[in-house]
Amino acid sequence: MNKYGDFSPDGKEYIIHRPDTPRPWINYLSNEKYCALCSHTGGGYSFYETSGFNRITREYPPFVLYRDRPGRFVYLRDMETGDFWNVNWQPVCKPNTKWESRHGLGYTTLCSEYDSIEGRITYFVPRSDHLEIWMVTIKNNGETPRRLRSFSCIEWSLGNYAFNLIEAAFAQLFNEVSFENNVLLVTSRFWNVSATGTGNPNLRWDKYAFFTSDIPADGFDALFEEFLGTYRGWERPIVVENGQCRNSCGNGRDIVGVLQHNFDLQPGEEKRFLVLLGVANNKEEAHSLRHRYDTWDAAEYALREVKKYWEDYISRTWCDVPDRDFAISFNIWNKYQAWVTSRWSRMDSYYIGGASIIGWRDSWQDMLGVLPNDVEWAKKRSLYIIEHQFPDGSTLHNWDPLTNIGVKTGHSDDPLWLVMGIIEYIKETGDLAFLDELAPYYDGGTETIRQHLIHALDYSLSRMSPRRIPLIEAADWNDGLDHVGRQGRGESTMVAEHLVWMLNEASAILSAAGMQEKAEKYAQLAAEIAQATNEHMWDGEWYIRGTRDDGQPFGSSKNPEGKIFLNAQTWAVISGVARDGRDITCMNAVQKHLDTEYGPALFLPAYSEPNPKIGIITRFAPGTKENGTIFNHPVAWAVMAECILGRGDRAYDIWKRTSFITRGLQPDLYKAEPYVYAEYVHGPDSVNFGLGEFTWVTGTAAWMWKVCLERILGVRPELEGLRIDPCIPSWWDKYAVRRTFRNATYEIEVENPEHVNRGVKQIEVDGKVIDGTLITPHRDGAIHKVRVILGQ
Ligand code: GLC
Repeated sequence: MNKYGDFSPDGKEYIIHRPDTPRPWINYLSNEKYCALCSHTGGGYSFYETSGFNRITREYPPFVLYRDRPGRFVYLRDMETGDFWNVNWQPVCKPNTKWESRHGLGYTTLCSEYDSIEGRITYFVPRSDHLEIWMVTIKNNGETPRRLRSFSCIEWSLGNYAFNLIEAAFAQLFNEVSFENNVLLVTSRFWNVSATGTGNPNLRWDKYAFFTSDIPADGFDALFEEFLGTYRGWERPIVVENGQCRNSCGNGRDIVGVLQHNFDLQPGEEKRFLVLLGVANNKEEAHSLRHRYDTWDAAEYALREVKKYWEDYISRTWCDVPDRDFAISFNIWNKYQAWVTSRWSRMDSYYIGGASIIGWRDSWQDMLGVLPNDVEWAKKRSLYIIEHQFPDGSTLHNWDPLTNIGVKTGHSDDPLWLVMGIIEYIKETGDLAFLDELAPYYDGGTETIRQHLIHALDYSLSRMSPRRIPLIEAADWNDGLDHVGRQGRGESTMVAEHLVWMLNEASAILSAAGMQEKAEKYAQLAAEIAQATNEHMWDGEWYIRGTRDDGQPFGSSKNPEGKIFLNAQTWAVISGVARDGRDITCMNAVQKHLDTEYGPALFLPAYSEPNPKIGIITRFAPGTKENGTIFNHPVAWAVMAECILGRGDRAYDIWKRTSFITRGLQPDLYKAEPYVYAEYVHGPDSVNFGLGEFTWVTGTAAWMWKVCLERILGVRPELEGLRIDPCIPSWWDKYAVRRTFRNATYEIEVENPEHVNRGVKQIEVDGKVIDGTLITPHRDGAIHKVRVILGQ
């Protein structure tokens, strides 16, 4: 509970009690194709398939963050007094006598009262159609009859986001608009579908967007200037002030969508209507789409379908633990965020406009957060991503999903995420035959997945320094280290550790798939690289992060800034590179040098001055973005590493400190949504230490969820079966976890009578004690009861 809101008792909604939250708190309403970013007051914008090229409504960064406008607003005007307000609260911001908003899974609903008039709106996107629905109810709670008008409004921005934003005055010249049969239809005669937003591809936008209502409108407006009036803003549109739409229309102008509805309400009476905003390939499709949703019942049915989808999705893995925050996070919101991030990756966020880009490394990792809950989708996604690899094993770094045009940057970590994705998919499903499926390369040719994997590994193996450490090249996972290795000499400890992990895991899989020789070779190479890493990259108390082109180390005790980096330590443990006590030593160094009250920092101290020999990481202001912040994605790896070391209290402490629920307890400092992870939190070198930035689309979502399932709750897929290996806080007496695995459901009850962090004493499966901690897959579609007793 914080002063702005709290979770509902079942945790499935976040209820916001007042509209003036420190920042707009967002929800993603989306069915994989149509996406509406919707704040708690209905602010935000919508796009279809790509945020860069198929925009529907307008976003003005960074004002969208501070002002939360434009959006999906419903104004009400009292025709006796002339007073007007919003059901949403903003943009008019009149003081409501009642106000509440709820973000749920796939919908956002808000309810307010002003001058005895209650308004409710539920926004959602149906599962299969490309539109959003606003279900609006207006009720007279007073004792006198009322004569009211409503104005439902949006601001269009059609097609190319960057073009519309940067060249707004030019872009509007192409707008076409008409109002026919109660439908406002809009399109653009020009579609700048080039990644750079320049040039003239000589195309029309291949979509129509529409705005309509299930009941006839009593007026409409399409022209921005006519609706708002000059010298005014959304707080006081002239049309609302006057109480009458102007039915304005016209091509080549800046456009809005406004629908007016007039109604009289007796005391206690309520009226309801639907507003539909969507996109279609042509006018006919737009009309037929809106007819599918022209009754309240049809909308309610579609909303029930959305809720059913989410109920089903979240129920596939479930835990019952003695910490409500953990349960809400794992069971519901972290899982939901991972789904959203997997679909929209870094393509769009409320904070950084539409990049329209699918990132190679991000997509592989984001897929992992969905994998146990939807293996079919994960497979489809993997096959899609894999098509962006080249036959030599190198890959695109990112691409635009519409044009499939992308860039190859030479990031040294890129090829390896493919290896991890395939390995994790096979461990989850046991589907070794996947290795023999065919997949194309980006620039032609087709080979088996096995070959794709081998090429990725061999490519990485070919890009090593003379002393057998991978070159960092354009950068590694950390994009900000973009000038340490441009001359082809700088090395990356993190990539060395990645490579060791990938080689060992691939070796096990290839051996199971009958490629003994290759498997042995990879295991041998892994051992050699691990040895080289221990020989050259160990700094005494921790691993250095890498070396620069000039041979100097970074992330070393020799450096006054950027002394110790989290990733070089966590991955040393995860990969098994750290041995002979170095694993404990380096993670203790993390605790000593990187811990903050909001979790371990990515590295410290922050770089105080730009350093051209390191790169953009040093150009970010100290304590922001990747320069010495608590970057949550690698925090998940810290939790994982601590679990591998068996330090359950420490792992849990890190989870807890960085949890959005914990951080939400300081809402005016943290500011970000208390129900999803932020990409980063300002570090100690920022005066805004503790402030959360860039929520929703972050690799944290997938990794934190995966680590909670596999490492804390300890239910982890391995090639041969389901490993039970919890690492929990010692105060947990017992807990339960349910998950599906290879066509069976496991209901696992864990008892911790001796209050240990880790250690399995005994496992019973369906009443029979098994040897060891691995459950052999049943694959029988049945439910299996597992009882686990922890102890020394
Ligand atoms: C952002 C990028 C991700 C990168 C990380 C660290 O989250 O999307 O690809 O690994 O920053 O630089």
